[in-house]
Amino acid sequence: MAGRKLLVTNALPYVNGHLHLGHLVGYVQADIWVRFERMCGNEVGYFCGDDTHGTATMIRASQEGREPEALLEEMSVSHQRDFADFRVDFDHYGSTHSESNRELVYGVWAALRQAGRVAERDVTQLFDSEAGVFLADRFVKGGCPKCGAAEQYGDNCEVCGGVYEPHELVDPRSTLSGSTPELRTAPHYFVTLDEFHGFLDEWTQTPGRLQPEIAKQLERSFLSDRLRDWDVSRPAPYFGFEIPDAPGHFFYVWVDAPIGYIAATRDWCDRNGKDLADWWQNSEREIHHFIGKDIVYFHTLFWPAMLKTGGYELPERVHANGFLTVNGEKMSKRKGTYLLARTYLEHLSPDYLRYYYASKLGSGVTDLDLNLDEFIAKVNSDLVGKLVNLASRTARFMKGQNLCDPYPDDGGLFQRASAQGQEIAAAYEARDTNKVTRIAMGLADRANEYVEAGAPWALKKQKGKEEEVREICSVALNLFRQLTTYLQPILPELSVRANALLGQEGSSRFEDAQRPIEGAPVAKFEHLMQRIDPERVQAMLDGSVSED
Ligand code: 2FM
Ligand code: ZN
Repeated sequence: MAGRKLLVTNALPYVNGHLHLGHLVGYVQADIWVRFERMCGNEVGYFCGDDTHGTATMIRASQEGREPEALLEEMSVSHQRDFADFRVDFDHYGSTHSESNRELVYGVWAALRQAGRVAERDVTQLFDSEAGVFLADRFVKGGCPKCGAAEQYGDNCEVCGGVYEPHELVDPRSTLSGSTPELRTAPHYFVTLDEFHGFLDEWTQTPGRLQPEIAKQLERSFLSDRLRDWDVSRPAPYFGFEIPDAPGHFFYVWVDAPIGYIAATRDWCDRNGKDLADWWQNSEREIHHFIGKDIVYFHTLFWPAMLKTGGYELPERVHANGFLTVNGEKMSKRKGTYLLARTYLEHLSPDYLRYYYASKLGSGVTDLDLNLDEFIAKVNSDLVGKLVNLASRTARFMKGQNLCDPYPDDGGLFQRASAQGQEIAAAYEARDTNKVTRIAMGLADRANEYVEAGAPWALKKQKGKEEEVREICSVALNLFRQLTTYLQPILPELSVRANALLGQEGSSRFEDAQRPIEGAPVAKFEHLMQRIDPERVQAMLDGSVSED
């Protein structure tokens, strides 16, 4: 359906780490969806930015002896470069540490206060008196109070799965200074979430809003009970926005992080003469969030409550993706499978990974395994062996010639593939790119059978067969271009190059897969894609091994 107005966001990556291939699952998935919607004529704004605040940023900057702003600048450049090189093409990449975000956060806060949704209570937390900071859960380690396992973090035990408060740890230790933390009490501000219970029951359970497994999980866990008040403040020192009516207290990073979606939109609106209200206060626009499954409850409980109180539109849909494993295991620095986006890019083309992820992703929340042998086999067989092969085996026989006009009889191949356009579109819409690639490869198989049977390389040697060769190649090249159009959201550059080969400029619209190109001159064939040499994959792994 064309003419929709969409606003799409990806989770804002933390500023304190480089992007790795696990991050890219969700970014590639959203970018594909955005490109597909645009190809169909829908208006889309696609926004992201760095998530900057919190204890971790403050500590890292101080350990590196510089201001947090310097760290922010460096990481923003690095993140944006990685995204651009993976062809993840945001309209604007913002930062939560911006004046526009500060103003928006203050606005939401004022609305929460005015609605009577803020309470104040004392909280006792572990405090590192050597480092002079309250300790977030991950900055405390000690023995698990449930099973006794040593060296566990302050929130849950990796051995027995037990959940507890950091002060319950046996012999707790600050990971910052190594000292034994003490308990200190300070006032905190809370959002009284239970007042939103009825609204959240309805909002989260609306069909189509969340993936069914997520909606069920929320219904069974958080929503089955009273919603606990949400602690939204942290006492100084903290790197973040100071609460305007509570000096010495700062907004917890998860308050200003999602508001960063609005701030990024606002910065883009200011630069492009657009109206923010058309994006966040317009009931005709659909807001779509793409996030990792670990941050579902921030986006489905706290966030809708903030938006509703602040007078913004609610998301149409929150889409969660699963985690990435490499060769069946959690990424590991020691095994060289902790793969940074940059390390990958030093050795391999982004298109390979975009295609591989697309081929593995469906509309569910399941985890995704990057099996490197399968990765090589799939790219080489599907993209090089089936897809690009259609052009590389035929374009050279068309040098200096035009495609046939009218399009020759191909036994109904092009027509049958056009008829599958709707099914492909529905699969993209549902984020089921696994299905998209399966259909596309089925079509590529049929096209290759046609070329095999026609064997233009053999006919070429026979006298008087020139026209037949031209017909077979015109069909093959059109089928190739039809497929690269279908796959354009996944492989945008290949589609532009396929178009250029057949005398067309720029990218395709989705409907361009419905009609063959007739009569256009065929350009000189340039190599479109190389096979993956397994040595390149090994070099990437070697480049990733670390002693940590
Ligand atoms: O989990 C994370 O990586 C967070 N930085 C995501 C923030 S998403 C949004 F709310 F800003
Ligand atoms: Zn335990």
